[in-house]
Amino acid sequence: MQIDILTVVPDLLASPLSHSIIKRAREKNLLQINIIHLRDWALNKYGQVDDYQFGGGAGMVMRCEPLANAIDDLQKEQPYDEIIYVTPDGKQHNQQIANELSLKEKILIICGHYKGIDQRIRDLYVTKEISIGDYVLSGGELAAAVIVDSVGRLIPGVLGDETSALSDSFQDNLLAPPVYTRPAEFRGLKVPDELMTGNPKIIDAWRDEQALKRTEERRPDLLQ
Ligand code: ADE
Repeated sequence: MQIDILTVVPDLLASPLSHSIIKRAREKNLLQINIIHLRDWALNKYGQVDDYQFGGGAGMVMRCEPLANAIDDLQKEQPYDEIIYVTPDGKQHNQQIANELSLKEKILIICGHYKGIDQRIRDLYVTKEISIGDYVLSGGELAAAVIVDSVGRLIPGVLGDETSALSDSFQDNLLAPPVYTRPAEFRGLKVPDELMTGNPKIIDAWRDEQALKRTEERRPDLLQ
């Protein structure tokens, strides 16, 4: 899978996408991430990509031409399956969207800055608008990193243990059950007996029950 990210602050994206599972996915070539500097399509030698808003008001808007030219160039050989704009007024990101995106071959994520991008780019190019929550970030880069991380780990072959994503929180609309490791007793608190039986049936039943209990207590909305 190829994920291109179009940004005016490429440095913000370098580190979050170079560690742990996503690093391994890139090394195994299961995931190609290209961090692309929008200023390469700037309007002039000063690197201009934004302008004042029509109608007045504080804050600049990212202009159409650099974005449109960049997108046209980037999909000359192979069109994008999805062009995503990360924005607080988009649909809230969740595991189902991550699952769907992990099946695509080539996607672009556009990171907005200032007051955002000219509406006509959204009308003409963008196929999905995603928010990572009801708060405003300084730019779309951290949101893009969150989306890429959540998608990248779902690409088949990325997680060593193939079942590992299946037992994550939010798969099957359930939160994950509690987990324990050694020691078997810590400050008077014991690991639940079921996990110590060595019996997969008992262990699975306990995990299912705990996942349901936790979801009922913390996120009943997921069960509706
Ligand atoms: N850009 C700024 N805030 C954002 C948010 N909450 N989600 C996605 N992109 C954003």
